[in-house]
Amino acid sequence: MTQSRWSLETLLVHAGNDIVKTEPYFATSPAIYPSTSFQVSSPELLDQVMEGSVPGFSYARHGNPTVQAFAHAMARLEEAEVGVATASGMAAIDMALYAACLQPGDRLLLSQDLYGASLNLASTIWTQYGIRSVVADFTDLTQVEDALRINHPKAMFFEMISNPLLKVVDMSSIVELAESYGCQVIVDNTFTTPLMVQPGVLGADLVVHSATKYLGGHGDAMGGVVVGKSVYSERLHQYLKLRGAVLGPFEAWLLHRGLKTLAVRFERQCANALDIAESLAASERFERIYYPLLPDHPTHLTARRYFGTMGGAVVTLEIPGGKDGVYQFIKNLHLVGSATTVGDVYTLCLYPLIASHRNQTPEERRTMGITEGTVRIAVGLEDPQDVAHDILQAMK
Ligand SMILES: Cc1ncc(COP(=O)(O)O)c(C=O)c1O
Repeated sequence: MTQSRWSLETLLVHAGNDIVKTEPYFATSPAIYPSTSFQVSSPELLDQVMEGSVPGFSYARHGNPTVQAFAHAMARLEEAEVGVATASGMAAIDMALYAACLQPGDRLLLSQDLYGASLNLASTIWTQYGIRSVVADFTDLTQVEDALRINHPKAMFFEMISNPLLKVVDMSSIVELAESYGCQVIVDNTFTTPLMVQPGVLGADLVVHSATKYLGGHGDAMGGVVVGKSVYSERLHQYLKLRGAVLGPFEAWLLHRGLKTLAVRFERQCANALDIAESLAASERFERIYYPLLPDHPTHLTARRYFGTMGGAVVTLEIPGGKDGVYQFIKNLHLVGSATTVGDVYTLCLYPLIASHRNQTPEERRTMGITEGTVRIAVGLEDPQDVAHDILQAMK
């Protein structure tokens, strides 16, 4: 079997290891290079490394072997030509927007259901650069096409599963529309991971991840990564050298190690989420349970078409009693923790109103379908029946 034909499960374990390979002893756990600078054997070689004509390392802001091993692994997992890692998911998003070469006066088309901070990044920092954002519901192809026709955006940015209501976007149709209007496509693949979808394979130009979530998987390392077509390589590296939002080598090592168990963790988390969603839906104690594979979810057919039996590892609940009802619910939980993240081994609950979507206006939240009773459960690796039981007892 040639390397290029390895399955994702095999690549998750092996990709990137060769970047830090040494001869004749090859450490089975890849080495960490904490060094901020690298001595180069001759000024001629340093000149070529600095110029970029010869691969190599000179200064950690320009590149570090441990960081490159993780970024290279991500590029292979997404079948991309280039991968560049960053200090956080937000830095990765900012870098992807920079790589798209937006100029003052350009427009950026955003999904209304993007992660809250991504919307804030566009409406605060990128507006200061003269980039105007236009927002559309990406589950509505007519809305997306109208936005493309009227605004001629230079790039669009969306997630395939919305947060927190878990609406699934018909990515192939969106990419087709974008191509017909000459609009670059940037996708945040944090919630789906390459195990559910490889946006680049479906035609996206750039794919970003918050590696802080499922890729690392243990809640102990913050990082991000952008992968994409080679035409973006120069601007991605330029951003990192000049902005300096580099991933640290220790975090890179943890994130790379996380990849090795991603398939077993994420597949189990998705199975647990379905199990919990079905148990909670059967209880009838909630106003609504959102999970992409439940037959009453508005986009469940699209979810089945793209993801088969993997629906992601998030379940969202609609709790009666408004803010007071939610506060009481959170206080009643024993096993499920309260933290503003996803992708950990622990099951964690988040209240979007005071966390991920606190900076959206009530009107914006209403348009997204987020109410005072919406609570997101990021499912971990505990026994799903223990988690379902804890959530049900918290509704007492
Ligand atoms: C979908 C998504 N994208 C990006 C980010 C930002 O990632 P980070 O916190 O690593 O900067 C988050 C964080 O929650 C997220 O949920």
